[in-house]
Formats: sequence, C-alpha cells, structure tokens
Amino acid sequence: MCFQEWLPCYPKRMFLSDLNNTYLPEDFTMGKGSGFGKVILFGEHFVVHGIPGIVSAIDSTADAEVKKIARGITIRDERKGSKGYAEEKKAQQLESIDRVLKAMGIEPETVAFDIWLGGNLPGFSGLGASAASSVAIARAIAEEIGKRFSDEKINEIAYEAEKAYAGTPSGIDNTAATFGGLLWFEKNMKGGDNTIGKLRIRNPVEIVIGSTGVVANTKAMVEGVAERKRNHPEKYDSLFEQAAAIVLIGRKALQEYDLKKIGELMNDNHRLLQEIEVSHKKLDYLVDVARKQGAYGAKMTGGGGGGCMVALTPGKDSQEKVANAIKKAGCEVLRTRIGVEKT
Ligand code: MEV
Repeated sequence: MCFQEWLPCYPKRMFLSDLNNTYLPEDFTMGKGSGFGKVILFGEHFVVHGIPGIVSAIDSTADAEVKKIARGITIRDERKGSKGYAEEKKAQQLESIDRVLKAMGIEPETVAFDIWLGGNLPGFSGLGASAASSVAIARAIAEEIGKRFSDEKINEIAYEAEKAYAGTPSGIDNTAATFGGLLWFEKNMKGGDNTIGKLRIRNPVEIVIGSTGVVANTKAMVEGVAERKRNHPEKYDSLFEQAAAIVLIGRKALQEYDLKKIGELMNDNHRLLQEIEVSHKKLDYLVDVARKQGAYGAKMTGGGGGGCMVALTPGKDSQEKVANAIKKAGCEVLRTRIGVEKT
C-alpha cells in the first residue's frame, strides 16, 4: 500500500500533569508529542542492507513536553529503563536533539528549551525507545514553536536523529515510532523513498517482550554486522537470502493468520540473527524459556547484543504462562499485542 494512502494516526498521549511551577503563569503553554515503541517481527539488521522487514508498534509511547526557556537545552529524562540505559545513551541523546533541530531548519545555538521525557515505554534496548523519543521531541518542539509538520516530515526528522543512535539506520524504527501499526518496511538503498506499507491481520495477537536488562549499543551492533558481511561475503550472502525469504513468507503467514507459521519463522529468524552474531546468551536463554512454555515462536528483537526478545503467545493464558516464566528468570516483561489498529 502506498504511503500517502494511510489515514493519519496519532499516538495516544499520556502526560504527567506535574507542570513545572517555576514558569510564569503566562508562559504556561508547552509543546507536547509522542512516539510509539516497537518490536521487529522479522528482519532486523538485514533491513539495514535493503532486505525488507516487518515491524509492529506497541501500545507504549515515549512522551515529550518542550518549553522555551531563557538559555541552553535542559533534558529531564524520567523514563523508566534498564539500569545504566540513560547514562549509556546520554551523549547520543544530545547529538540526536541537535540533529532534530537541524533537520527542522533550526540552528541549535539560536534556541533554548527545557525538554521533559516520560511515557510508558521503558528504556529497554530493542524497543525503539530512541526513535520513539526523537519522534516525541520533534512533535513537541514543533508544537512549542507553532509549526505544523506532516507525519512524513516528522519521520524524516526522526530518521536524522536516529543516526546518532544507530550510525546508519534503516529507518524502520522511526517509521514505526511515527506512524504506528503493523508495517512492511524496505529501505531504498539508492537513497530515494523507502517502501512502507500497512499490514493488517484478522485479530490482534498477544506477545510477551522480555528484557535481558543488558544495555546494548545499536551503532556498534550495526557496524559489526557490516564488517562481518564485508569479510565473509559468501556466508553472509546466503544468510541474507534466507532472511529475505523469511520476511516474504512471514508477510503471507500474517495475512493468512497462520500463527503457527509466524512462530516458526520467528524461530528461524532468531537462528539467522545468532549466525550474524547479534544475539546474546541471555537473549538465547529467554527465547528458550518462552518456547518451552508454549510460545509459538520467539526471537530477539531490535539491535541485539542484549536488549529484548519477543515471544508469540496467542491467548491470555499462554501470554501469562510465558510472561511468568520470564519474570521467574529475573527479567522484566511487557505483555502487549501486535496488530492492534490504534497503535
Ligand atoms: C534496531 O531496532 C533495528 C536495526 O535493524 C537497526 C536499523 O534498522 O536501523 C538493528
């Protein structure tokens, strides 16, 4: 489906009401914005090199509030996250905000903002928290300075910001963060428009996301794959072909609502991600736990090297069983669904 045919879809906004009372009453306005978190069902890493991917937004958002102030840029990041996430991402976050401003046509030295970040999307690596925050911040800045940007423009701005976190991102995370829903994504390797299409499934399906608690550096993971791909072209060409086949069959399985097949393909995709060396022993362990508890399939999701895994657990009972087992393993879980129209 063509990108422009989509109905605009705005994430729900969930803001804390603790307005900073150091502001004067007449300055009591502020810009607000949100961006969706996501799980990649098929194709992370491969998507950076032009293989299609399938991503689903989740019903958790990063939210931002932006207020003009007298001087400088202050960031109050109140998102809940893995231990060390905020510190690890601090420098990249500063660079990303610079990039947001420049992509909006604003010279960073000419503006001064207080930026608050919150929302119910935890700062776990792998859930697109950086892209969601960039989308939220871009929307909030636009509102604060009285500019209206289309979702397409917000997506472009967030893509620029993603470069701070991922080096050479595919654009899949910012696309999911901006538009939400269940999406097909294919990067245009020649630099033109990416192919983005909305996928629909018959009914939403329960998933469990498990966080290893290990904070990962997406940029390093993406660079590692590129280097190994250069050094071992034959091995990687074959793995990339297999990844492309999985995404194509995965799309068909989603359209046919063949949940068993989707699960199997998630397992296959996890094996490929292990082969390109982006998984992590804790991810492999949680994937194993989920499968043993009856998940139809499980894989790491996102950049890997730590971060999160996702398990397909149709039905509340299966979801609960898998979530409890992952919690028992000492990890945090999110219970959510893919294919929900409003996300
Ligand atoms: C990160 O969520 C997904 C990666 O494929 C990077 C990207 O596509 O930009 C690892």
